[in-house]
Amino acid sequence: KNLIFSGMQPTNTLHLGNYLGALRNWVKLQEQMPCIYCVVDMHAITADAGYAKPKELQAAIREVTAAYIAAGVDPARSILFKQSDVAAHAELAWVFNCVARLGWMDRMTQFKEKSGKHKERASVGLYTYPTLMAADILVYKATHVPVGEDQKQHLELTRDIAQKFNNDYSAPDFFPQPEPLILGTATRVMSLRDGAKKMSKSDESDMSRINLTDDADAIAAKIRKARTDPNPLPDDEKGLEGRPEAENLINIYAALSDESKASIITRYAGQQFSGFKNDLAEVAVAKLTPIAAKMRELLADPAEIDRILEKGAARADEIAAPVIKEVKALVGF
Ligand code: TYM
Repeated sequence: KNLIFSGMQPTNTLHLGNYLGALRNWVKLQEQMPCIYCVVDMHAITADAGYAKPKELQAAIREVTAAYIAAGVDPARSILFKQSDVAAHAELAWVFNCVARLGWMDRMTQFKEKSGKHKERASVGLYTYPTLMAADILVYKATHVPVGEDQKQHLELTRDIAQKFNNDYSAPDFFPQPEPLILGTATRVMSLRDGAKKMSKSDESDMSRINLTDDADAIAAKIRKARTDPNPLPDDEKGLEGRPEAENLINIYAALSDESKASIITRYAGQQFSGFKNDLAEVAVAKLTPIAAKMRELLADPAEIDRILEKGAARADEIAAPVIKEVKALVGF
């Protein structure tokens, strides 16, 4: 039985990478399969950005929920909830901490990036982050996981955990092998200041990213000031080789306008970036500012957002409860 699961961390404001790499695909997938979309607040406390900041965390949970809905996630159809409301995530994560091997965890590149130079000061939660993510997905026996490219390795680990559990507990086919859905032309949106870096919530420069809450002026200014090389736009896709900033802007344009990369390259072949950027800014403003407006409207009624999350948690719990019960029986608890 096909089932979608995905989630985002409530740390800071969502940005264009989150939208193009994941959220817009979530919205479309609602037409194809039942969907469960989670605000992963337990993951948010693994890093400094969310740790010991209860007021900020609560605000970020509501803001991310509002972003999901404003972008088109329909809480009447899809299940929308927050992770900490369904205890089965934490229970299964513990079992998976015992299934996963240290050698597997040590290969996780995101931990290496996020823990930085001082690994010994990173939280243990940051290290075991991927086993909680595996539990998020598998506690619903989800089959498809729409994410950006940066989550691919975590999905591979999830599959390894599922397989080892099934094997070790002699329960073939108990957990499915969930497939990542990495869709569209902007699966890895890069920083607007540096084509070698991923667009990220934690970049200290706000000019490096377009936030979903940015107004039209901010969006236009960030695109106009986005770094490019001094050459005009290329004549064909091959001409993008070694030009990560140009490629990034074209990918963003293609994704926002639902056009192919090829048709955009043809249209702007040989032109200067200034005109291209003006057009890109227009497309981005048209697409993103209605989402920001809708978010503001939703956030004016936080109690309603809390009610939506509560209802979603009850529906999620109904699916997770029998699975965790079976897991406990298999494990021998
Ligand atoms: P998070 O909160 O970092 O990001 C949320 C989603 O946005 C995608 N994304 C990007 N896509 C393209 N370009 C970018 N620059 C970019 N930055 C972020 C991410 O790939 C992700 O899809 N571990 C996850 C959250 C999570 C999860 C899960 C996801 C927890 N449990 C279970 C799926 C299933 C994370 O940190 O995403």
